[in-house]
Amino acid sequence: MFTAEKASSADKPPNILVFFCNGKKVVDHHVEPELTLLAYLRTKLRLTGSKLGCGEGGCGACTVMVSKYSPKDKTINHLAVNACLAPICSVQGMAVTTVEGIGSTKTRLHPVQERIAKAHGSQCGFCTPGIVMSMYTLLRNNPQPTMEDIESAFEGNLCRCTGYRPILQGYKTFTKEGCCGGNVTNCCMNTDQNGIREEGVSTQLFDPSEFTPYDPTQEPIFPPELMLMLDEGTLAVQKFEGNNLIWLRPATVSQLLDLKVKYPQAKMVAGNTEVGVEVKFKNQVYPVIIDINHIPEMTSIETTPYGVRVGASVSLSCLDGYLKKVIQDQPEHKTRIYAAIVEMLRWFAGHQIRNVACLGGNIATGSPISDMNPLLMAARCTLELTSKQGSHAVTMDGNFFTGYRKNIIGPNEVILAVNIPFTSENEYFYGFKQAPRREDDIAIVNAGMRVLMKPGTNVVEDCTLAFGGMAPTSVLASKTMASIKERHWADGLVEAMCPLLAEDLPLPPGAPGGMEPYRQSLTLSFFFKFYLGVLEELKLKLPGLSDTSIPASFKSANQQYHKNSARGVQMYQEVPAGQPDSDAVGRPLTHLAALKQVTGEALYVDDITPARDELYLGMVCSKKAHAKLLSVNATAALALEGVHAFVDVNDVPGCNMIGPTAPQDDPVFADGEVVHVGQLIGLVVADSQAIAQKAAKLVQVEYEELPAIITIEEAIEQDSYLPSNLFLKRGNVQEVLESCDHILEGEVRTGAQEHFYLETTSTLVIPGEGGEVEVISSTQALTTTQDLVAKALGIPNNRVVSKVKRLGGGFGGKETRCCVHAAACAVAANKVNRPVRLMLDRDEDMSMTGTRHPFLGRYKVGLAKDGEMRALQIDLYSNCGFSNDLSNAVMERAVFHSDNCYNIPNFQVRGHLCKTNLPSNTAFRGFGGPQGLFVMESILSEIAGRYGMSELKMRERYFYCEGDITHFGQELKHWNLKRCWTECLTKSDYDNRRRDVDQFNSENRWRKRGIAVIPTKYGIAFTFKPLNQAGALVHIYTDGAVLISHSGVEMGQGLHTKMIQVASRALRIPQEKIHILETNTAMVPNTSPTAASSGSDLNGMAIKAACETLLQNLEPFVRDNPKGTWEEWVKAAYMNRVSLSTTGFYSTPNLYFDWQTGNGKPFNYFCHGVAVSEVEIDCLTGDHQVLRTDIVMDVGDSINPAIDIGQIEGAFIQGYGLFVLEDYRVTPTGQLLTKGPGFYKIPGFGDIPSEFNVSLLTRAPNPFAVCSSKAIGEPPLFLAASVFFAIKDAIQSARDDAGVPGTLKLDSPATAERIRMACQDQFTKQFPPPEPGTYTPFFVRP
Ligand SMILES: Cc1cc2nc3c(=O)[nH]c(=O)nc-3n(C[C@H](O)[C@H](O)[C@H](O)COP(=O)(O)OP(=O)(O)OC[C@H]3O[C@@H](n4cnc5c(N)ncnc54)[C@H](O)[C@@H]3O)c2cc1C
Ligand code: FES
Ligand code: FES
Repeated sequence: MFTAEKASSADKPPNILVFFCNGKKVVDHHVEPELTLLAYLRTKLRLTGSKLGCGEGGCGACTVMVSKYSPKDKTINHLAVNACLAPICSVQGMAVTTVEGIGSTKTRLHPVQERIAKAHGSQCGFCTPGIVMSMYTLLRNNPQPTMEDIESAFEGNLCRCTGYRPILQGYKTFTKEGCCGGNVTNCCMNTDQNGIREEGVSTQLFDPSEFTPYDPTQEPIFPPELMLMLDEGTLAVQKFEGNNLIWLRPATVSQLLDLKVKYPQAKMVAGNTEVGVEVKFKNQVYPVIIDINHIPEMTSIETTPYGVRVGASVSLSCLDGYLKKVIQDQPEHKTRIYAAIVEMLRWFAGHQIRNVACLGGNIATGSPISDMNPLLMAARCTLELTSKQGSHAVTMDGNFFTGYRKNIIGPNEVILAVNIPFTSENEYFYGFKQAPRREDDIAIVNAGMRVLMKPGTNVVEDCTLAFGGMAPTSVLASKTMASIKERHWADGLVEAMCPLLAEDLPLPPGAPGGMEPYRQSLTLSFFFKFYLGVLEELKLKLPGLSDTSIPASFKSANQQYHKNSARGVQMYQEVPAGQPDSDAVGRPLTHLAALKQVTGEALYVDDITPARDELYLGMVCSKKAHAKLLSVNATAALALEGVHAFVDVNDVPGCNMIGPTAPQDDPVFADGEVVHVGQLIGLVVADSQAIAQKAAKLVQVEYEELPAIITIEEAIEQDSYLPSNLFLKRGNVQEVLESCDHILEGEVRTGAQEHFYLETTSTLVIPGEGGEVEVISSTQALTTTQDLVAKALGIPNNRVVSKVKRLGGGFGGKETRCCVHAAACAVAANKVNRPVRLMLDRDEDMSMTGTRHPFLGRYKVGLAKDGEMRALQIDLYSNCGFSNDLSNAVMERAVFHSDNCYNIPNFQVRGHLCKTNLPSNTAFRGFGGPQGLFVMESILSEIAGRYGMSELKMRERYFYCEGDITHFGQELKHWNLKRCWTECLTKSDYDNRRRDVDQFNSENRWRKRGIAVIPTKYGIAFTFKPLNQAGALVHIYTDGAVLISHSGVEMGQGLHTKMIQVASRALRIPQEKIHILETNTAMVPNTSPTAASSGSDLNGMAIKAACETLLQNLEPFVRDNPKGTWEEWVKAAYMNRVSLSTTGFYSTPNLYFDWQTGNGKPFNYFCHGVAVSEVEIDCLTGDHQVLRTDIVMDVGDSINPAIDIGQIEGAFIQGYGLFVLEDYRVTPTGQLLTKGPGFYKIPGFGDIPSEFNVSLLTRAPNPFAVCSSKAIGEPPLFLAASVFFAIKDAIQSARDDAGVPGTLKLDSPATAERIRMACQDQFTKQFPPPEPGTYTPFFVRP
């Protein structure tokens, strides 16, 4: 029973936590207030549908709906909330709905669940519950949203698999615009590229007519019991007391002030979006928390004669909604500040954060990159402060912030409200923000700018310029503000103000945050935009202004960002007429686990119900990049209640030096020395995750630091390499180079890329009898896991069972590094002889599991006078981190792919493996291929630029033809590249759009467009030949049901779905009769990692072989009873004692390669594809937008077009992250700076091309793989380089306008910083980059 206190005292017995979850009442008499809502749901209520992806509000995997009832105005508010940041006590008296609460496969699916599943919007499924709940909440508030509403609702959700398009398309069916799924000719799905449509080609991947209609009246109501309780109300302080934390919830200001006196150290929280992160990641401990969300003065918002008074705890979403209304109701000139705030809120975090975070929290935190503070300062807002001593108002001026995260608010004071004034008729107000990613990202630099003109003139009366990201606090540009007064807003103003702004906002080399010249340039760019924007308004108002001129080409400089809703067409070949219905091959079947994924029923490793006596592990990791371990002292940790053991190298019964490849150089635990930050030193075994993590922090480690090598350049300088000898050569490169007319030398870099699979590395180890061990682990490589666990434990492989049902994404990141982790967990389980579990936190995962290898390509090209490439020499350097892992194989693939699609007569390439003090870098989708391909494309682009040639013609000039031989001696057969190229150019209308781009560029100085077409060739096979094998085990049960086991792991790529389709064709039965349980080394041994895009090829063939054997076994019974059914034949075989179970095996034929001669056939076949991308960049800020991408991809005869198109889109968006967005940074001493989604930005919903068209090449059967299909996982990733080269094209146009001489060199990723600084102009020139070596940079790119 809800027992609200009637007395106004915090000394009463603690309250009972009462809330509703999925319609059921939860009553907790002993709640631990330090638990988050997510931890409570997953561990206490065993509702594991909501996932932990980051714990910091950055991925949305934990999204739930929280419904609040307001007794005052009798309204119910539904909010999407990050359960990972919401403290459990914050939901007191509310109703929580999780993904399990809206539908299930056992009852009925909610339309939100059904549509994302059937539209192929769930691949690995780990992000899906969060996306479902964001959409569900939107519909609860707005049953027929627009596409803009939907795209906005997903700002706080990330997906690493799908590329987002299918999710948006599935949900478009809820909108007013609607979508029939291609059922009628003029459907959005049918407005195909230039109306080109082949016979037998479909654009329909799902059929919305199958969807259950959405009926909002069927939604559950707010629990009446709760409503009644809340109506009864309480004006008393509520108190929840746990072992480590007291949670207090005052209902009045005076209670709050009393509590602040009584608990001087108490922390106030509103949204907990700052405090939650401090506690989880910054080791902050707050024993007393005061919840300030229930005090009327702080939660109300109203319009006053002077402006808007915003209660300090009003959520940013409420503020946004209220200001929008004021903007509608009041004259335009009065609401210019509000318009700037509303525009800024659009880029402030995602909905889940804005739904809870408040203005008071933003101001009080005082982050130097706060988005609100520069606006509030520029607007000269006043704060109402109150304390026991009294109340007063302060203005947010240049004196408000006193230091990093410090301000003038006294320790006893509380911000009650913020007063945001109206603007006057002659007052103009703008806000600016530039972040690495547009949506849900923190600013690099932001600004609020206000100017007041003397009436009827363009003379400045007053001006306030506030900046964030330029100092330890938000600051005012005081000298500029003083000097600008009395000046005319006219020609010459910007030139006069720029030096003053530079003086006001200095950034010494090495300043925190880095990117000094860029940040300084941004301040001038913003001011220039401000100038243009205000001038435009002044000109409208004062048409007679004579001392100003804005060239027409400057007009777009201050244009507000606008994106059309994403659209696109997907084309694929339909199955041939006459294909039996039972044959599932070629059909766009939904991922077989999709329905379980959308309902939260799909189980990932950490969702498995804890075993009896299970313990949890906490990690002790190195804080140094290279050091001797002087001592490791776990005494304090062991003294903590609930801690069972500390495990380190001394506990390894077998071999501590293990590793996925020879020479095995990966220690399970550090042994005397650490070689990278994040290296595992030991594990604490405890009763719970919280205790284990707390205890791990108490383990004392003493280091003696040693010199560390971090970057490729440092490794080259210090000759630090791993052994390798990868060299390929054809023709006579040196001789030809000597005889060439011109030599071009240069270098180009690609960056590291974090896998950012949504499910972090997770392991559960269950010791069995007599030394047997079961390892359930989120790995792509079950046999490697089995092998390494056995080695570490010193037992034979037959005592270890390694298994997994599914992964929440892998992308190569779970191929090897997690196997070493699993071995460490097994050692811990062995020591305590109890089951142990470990799911890495996001920051731990990112610190220790390695990334895609950064590459440096150095090249020398011999050219004829006309620019013809006659000889090319490339040296590729990769940053491998501390150990071998897969680095040699990654480089092999880079070396094999550095020709891309081009026939260069004299060509040599050599790989160098740089050994550094970073975590071991590892496999990542593309596996070195994209890096090698990128170097070649950069070279072509540079030559074209230097000789003024068209890049397109340049590429065509060197294309391989059918039958050509590559630089590694393999003949190109079934070479469909030219077909893809021509079709893509036609479908994308390339020629016309090239002209349009040039036209646009001639008319716009500060916004530029670019377009590029990029081909790719990708070889299919593991380059380590033994891995090109797979096994399958197929059972037919007596009822006719078929169970398949194979060596491949399902990680979202739809492998199991495709395998069932293959089996359906092979056995000639419908796919519904076939099932796959899990992947398990006890069922199919010696599995190759599910990698190299080969999962379907290898396992499909093995399954086919097994099925064919079984068909042979059944054949006599079919012959005896030709009209019988499958079940009858199976039964007959059983009755006649004929085996209904068999294995299948496949090994790819004719693969060989000899590195001595540099010749052979390393690949079974090649995949091809072509992409055309068009972008628009903002030359002043470096912002960009992908306007359109068209892809034509050869996938052979697709086994499942929906899955293949999903892989193409997902790989493309991941590649876009690699080449444009994802910027991995470490300090010069090897500490990772980009840990977690807050600082490491993978593409979000808002980043996908506004128009995204994908076509599968038709009539292109592949004779070398199962069902004439082709592999698909990795090949399309490189096509995203088309965006990079389109950006380069756009930058070139800006440089041409600015008269910048020489060819443009651009490293990958093409971040906002790089784009801006490459568009050299009068602003960037004022900030030349500091001389390397003269200062210590804040970060390096390894
Ligand atoms: C994923 C994510 C994205 C984010 N994106 C952005 C972004 O784009 N831009 C940006 O600027 N910020 C961003 N933030 C930071 C954060 O959301 C904001 O600073 C937010 O406004 C904080 O509000 P809150 O209610 O959650 O603060 P809380 O965490 O509840 O409190 C923060 C601090 O303010 C103090 N405080 C709160 N209210 C008062 C008051 N009335 N009087 C005195 N002190 C008070 C608290 O004691 C605490 O010290 C992001 C955070 C996350 C987790
Ligand atoms: S887990 Fe909550 S947002 Fe990532
Ligand atoms: S399906 Fe979205 S992360 Fe895998």
